[in-house]
Amino acid sequence: MDTVLGIEDLHKDYPGGWRKPRRTALSGLNLEVPRGKTIGLLGPNGAGKTTTLKCIIGLIRPRSGRISLFGEEIIKANARKSVGFLPEQPYFDLYLTPRKLLSYYGRLAGMQPGDIKARTSYLLNLVGMGDETDLSMDKYSKGMLQRIGLAQALISEPEFLILDEPSSGLDPLGKIQVRDLLASLRDSGTTILISSHQLSEIEELCDGVAIIHKGRNVASGGLEDLLLSREEYEVVLEEAMPSPPEGLPASVSWMDARLTRLVVDRDDLNGALRTLTESGAAIELVRQRRMTLEEYFIEQVGNEGWETGP
Ligand SMILES: Nc1ncnc2c1ncn2[C@@H]1O[C@H](COP(=O)(O)OP(=O)(O)O)[C@@H](O)[C@H]1O
Ligand SMILES: [Mg+2]
Repeated sequence: MDTVLGIEDLHKDYPGGWRKPRRTALSGLNLEVPRGKTIGLLGPNGAGKTTTLKCIIGLIRPRSGRISLFGEEIIKANARKSVGFLPEQPYFDLYLTPRKLLSYYGRLAGMQPGDIKARTSYLLNLVGMGDETDLSMDKYSKGMLQRIGLAQALISEPEFLILDEPSSGLDPLGKIQVRDLLASLRDSGTTILISSHQLSEIEELCDGVAIIHKGRNVASGGLEDLLLSREEYEVVLEEAMPSPPEGLPASVSWMDARLTRLVVDRDDLNGALRTLTESGAAIELVRQRRMTLEEYFIEQVGNEGWETGP
């Protein structure tokens, strides 16, 4: 498969200082982003997501490891020209207006002035800034700066978009707008790497995920494969049972107090169905149970330091 980003065995330490020990942020990280896919880089706070993205963009240098973009080592600066980046903390010059900022980034990307003007108006509308674009940026809220940051990342119509916590600071409506915008970019073929600890956003947008914890890979793969990996089945009954029948396998757990839905391991499915039908239950539906990303996650990294809210 055509790979847009490949990372192999990446290590990064941050130097210590007075009374501060040296910190290892990445210890042997691997990541692959295939062309046209949307991949979620997930991990609790401090896992190493921002460090990884900064290494890709070249804002910091790893201690060791290999990073290739579009098949070229990133030492060659031109590999980065088709990349749009939304940093975790947009570090803009806050005395510029959004228009001036976008035109600055457009010039950096080598765009023509006429194209910059048209694209700036288009993008400011697209991210929901509308006509409110003539104030200097110190006058905008965190959510609005985040939208301007997204417009900045899109200025040169990048083939590959790297986003560090794109919905951070946005209100619920803003989150939905950003998610829809990313979905439409994905559908039009943009390759996207998105770091987040917002599991619901990742579950809706991504084809695949890489879960990292303490600078190392914990799990990665296609979202569907991971969420179906537990091989559990859900059984739905036509009517509630008066009480759980005797002799159900130990792996059965009921999902509702009315006793109409249960979950059972694959190896125990036939035994459970036999016991249920012998006790007079009518089976409405049997299907493999898909975990939520949140469940999968907690199974992989534990819930220490984990934020699951919207
Ligand atoms: N500039 C820095 N100096 C020292 N330590 C840092 C610096 N930036 C990040 N770290 C440390 O590196 C680890 C990974 O951080 P980061 O990549 O920001 O994680 P994430 O984005 O997943 O929350 C954390 O332990 C963090 O404290
Ligand atoms: Mg971060």
